[in-house]
Amino acid sequence: MTQTVQAETILSDDAQWWKSAVVYQIYPRSFSDGNGDGIGDLRGIIQRVPHLVELGVDVVWLSPIYCSPQADAGYDISDYQGIDPLFGDFADFDELVSLLHENQIKLVMDLVVNHTSDEHPWFIESRSSTDNPKRDWYWWRDARAGKIPGEAGAEPTNWESFFSGPTWTLDEATGQYYLHLFAAKQPDLNWENPELRTEIYSMMRWWLDRGVDGFRMDVINLISKDLALPDAVPDGVTGLGDGSPFYMNGPKLHDFLAEMHREVFAGRTGYLTVGEMPGVTIEEALLSTDPARRELDMVFQFEHVGLDHGENKFDIRELRRGALAENLTKWQDGLKERGWNSLYLSNHDQPRAVSRFGNDGQFWRESATALATALHLQRGTPYIYQGEEIGMTNGVFSSIDAFRDIESLNFFAHAQEAGLDLQRVKYGIQRNGRDNARTPVQWNDEENAGFSEAPPWIGVNPNHVWLNAQAQYDDPKSVFGHYRELVNLRHKSRVIAHGTFERIEHPDSAIFAFRREHDGERLIVVSNLSDSNVDLSPLECVLEGSVVLSNYGEATLDPLLARRELRPWEAVVLEPTILPC
Ligand code: NOJ
Repeated sequence: MTQTVQAETILSDDAQWWKSAVVYQIYPRSFSDGNGDGIGDLRGIIQRVPHLVELGVDVVWLSPIYCSPQADAGYDISDYQGIDPLFGDFADFDELVSLLHENQIKLVMDLVVNHTSDEHPWFIESRSSTDNPKRDWYWWRDARAGKIPGEAGAEPTNWESFFSGPTWTLDEATGQYYLHLFAAKQPDLNWENPELRTEIYSMMRWWLDRGVDGFRMDVINLISKDLALPDAVPDGVTGLGDGSPFYMNGPKLHDFLAEMHREVFAGRTGYLTVGEMPGVTIEEALLSTDPARRELDMVFQFEHVGLDHGENKFDIRELRRGALAENLTKWQDGLKERGWNSLYLSNHDQPRAVSRFGNDGQFWRESATALATALHLQRGTPYIYQGEEIGMTNGVFSSIDAFRDIESLNFFAHAQEAGLDLQRVKYGIQRNGRDNARTPVQWNDEENAGFSEAPPWIGVNPNHVWLNAQAQYDDPKSVFGHYRELVNLRHKSRVIAHGTFERIEHPDSAIFAFRREHDGERLIVVSNLSDSNVDLSPLECVLEGSVVLSNYGEATLDPLLARRELRPWEAVVLEPTILPC
């Protein structure tokens, strides 16, 4: 209690402006192509700013546009202060920032500082000799004792990388291995080195001084590693294992985040910081986002997007009824008043939300809007991933050649080498691969979905002939119309931005109902996250009041009460007139 009061008094509502904000993520190569080369770019984004204004969002998070060899679609940066010609130049960038600001939209940049590209000048210097001053800016280690560099099992640890294979690559010239938790072209930076940290902070200040409004920090909870670099438990197939206990949420993470805050953000206002944190626990998320500790404004946690993972993300486990709501509730309860969460169901690394958590066939519109309602009205800051606001579905990839993503392609290649069941692997990639979210945004029903005049870098979803933004703008009942309402609601309502969260139980776990409360204001959200009709009577005592929003277009509660059941994916938002039971 004391801590809550303290946190609230330290930061005013003004400083926490992002509580009533909605963020929109742009993945530039798939958003809109302005120069006709089949790849999205800054000019394309500029042309589509009216779409963002129409939707009403407050912040754009822009995935990387920095110079990059594009081994991991821009998450491998070779110049933090340059713009890749693929996306445009600084004139385009400055124009975009001004245009967004004129429309009261802030711009948050992606910050990828757990690793660089192996083509970054820092790494080129670092690898040039063992006594180069920048050698210590990366993780260099000798081969395992008793092993010859290059031979199987000689890597300093047996960790498996996120993109398959070992996390270490031998540099023949200097005879040592370097660490890369992702691809070999993404060497990990050594945050233990104070000069490196100073350089990163100064680069961040440079962007803020240029007018950007904050950062989404890529895998920021991987920056502090266990210096002993212990081995993982091997998985018995590859001999490699999960090293995450030794590099996730490491011993100096909070020191680094607090130092970054002091060095970069102290004395500034109006910015937003969000840390992407795979494997973060509620305890760690609380430490990172407690305003009194001055580390980050909010985090991306990963539990709910791992619910359908089996042994790995491509080994699909069907979602248990109610599992999503249960997990989201756990995080709402866990962060309570002291921490702050990002509310998301999709991004450029996840399959499309309506295909994964909803029903993208029979109940496409209903499930897209029900999921959005259940998500946006929780406590936290909602994120809309490009295309989600029109209900875009998973891509159609009939053969492995149709995929572009390094994670999926590496996984397939390793599965092939290991003699795994390739049909099953392909199915896993089709369901959970990242390319599902990377197909071009569907602007209209024309060729290439209005994304580009040239054939796009990755296949357009054929359903763009009916599923596109143009078809939805003038229809208030469309997915787009519903998202616009949700954004608007958060802006208007203090209870959504600041209220407490309490789940309302229903014997059927597919019913995700909750109440929000703030200063005497109340809101009730009832959603049926399933394909079946569900009995409404257990909720009757909360069903009194006026309807604020309904994805089936109900203006009052009467038809619902008469029917006594919620239809598939029905979601209704009420302002209660009685004290909820
Ligand atoms: C997380 C990013 O979201 C993902 O796209 C990227 O591949 C990894 N971090 C490595 O930067």
